Amino acid sequence: MTQPRLRQSTGHEFTRIYALGAARGELVVDNAQLIGPIDSSDEWIRQRTGIVERRRAPKEVTAVDLAVEAGREAIEKSGIRADQIGAVIVATISNPVVTPSVSTLVAERVGAGTAAAYDIEAACAGYTYAIAQADSLVRAGVADYVLVIGAEKLSDFVSPTDRSISFLLGDGAGAAVVGPSDFPGISTSILGSDGSKWGAVGMEGTYTGFRAGDNEWPYMRQDGQTVFRWAVWEMAKVAQRALDAAGVTADDLTAFIPHQANMRIVDEFAKVLKLPASVLIARDIATTGNTSAASIPLAAHRLLSEHPEAAGGLALQIGFGAGLVFGAQVVVLPGNSPRLT
Ligand SMILES: CC(C)(COP(=O)(O)OP(=O)(O)OC[C@H]1O[C@@H](n2cnc3c(N)ncnc32)[C@H](O)[C@@H]1OP(=O)(O)O)[C@@H](O)C(=O)NCCC(=O)NCCS
Repeated sequence: MTQPRLRQSTGHEFTRIYALGAARGELVVDNAQLIGPIDSSDEWIRQRTGIVERRRAPKEVTAVDLAVEAGREAIEKSGIRADQIGAVIVATISNPVVTPSVSTLVAERVGAGTAAAYDIEAACAGYTYAIAQADSLVRAGVADYVLVIGAEKLSDFVSPTDRSISFLLGDGAGAAVVGPSDFPGISTSILGSDGSKWGAVGMEGTYTGFRAGDNEWPYMRQDGQTVFRWAVWEMAKVAQRALDAAGVTADDLTAFIPHQANMRIVDEFAKVLKLPASVLIARDIATTGNTSAASIPLAAHRLLSEHPEAAGGLALQIGFGAGLVFGAQVVVLPGNSPRLT
């Protein structure tokens, strides 16, 4: 008997981001509210990080709630129906349970029916990984439209007495609808990792260690200088690789939207990449804080709200963080002018 030849599908030739959505925690937390237990000052935090205040969600609001709000806005603005979505990918490090995932609940609540749904954990690079996956799913013919969301409620995982990272972190979600396009709207993604720096940022202690009485309840911490140096030296190279892979130069960019980790890192990137003065640089960190997987789509959403003329232009986006992991690609900014939340 001859074995039947398998059918292997290919989908759409090109993809693009149709629209963005955003949800920021409704509480505005300024530096003064955090400095007491970490022996810091408003001046130190502003100078070292560029953060003036961060947005956090109240106790009763979850990462799923933020994801649903952002996802609904992106779907509404995309012009597609929720039931056309074939996959929902949520990038997050703030799911309070190991299982089930955040994404299945989000899919159900946004009306995406029985769409494929899964979470990915690539920390602050999560959104760039999820965009790469959405692009692949649409081009492979697995889904026509993919809802990508970066969603975090990091305030649930910080210790108010930790002075290494807690003051950086905020809560929010950013969403994008990815679908077929007549032109290339998402470039080849540059994705990678460096597990030799596994311990540089992440949770202090484990849940199993806590149960055994070996460590305190796990919370976020980092070796800030290690991450800072790695980001400035290595990530500028990754950003350049993404430009090269896309076949464009810094002069072709309308916007630069890096992960919002620290304003000094953003400034350093701009210098090393020799970005022309005309390139809009996302600086959402000043008032939102570092929202990990949510930070790039939130920053992109704000940039388009403040500069609707950037729609249709090219944006270089790069994420990097715990793992360590990184991801970057060039995208065509969607042609909507989303509202600020
Ligand atoms: C965390 C970070 C803001 C710290 O800034 P920094 O300039 O590297 O600070 P350093 O660790 O060198 O410490 C400098 C001084 O500030 C002090 N300091 C450290 N944390 C402080 C805080 N929260 N408040 C006040 N002072 C602090 C240190 O004790 C040190 O004092 P000294 O000079 O008297 O010894 C910075 O390293 C950073 O942003 N790193 C990258 C973060 C990142 O990208 N994370 C990605 C994953 S989310």
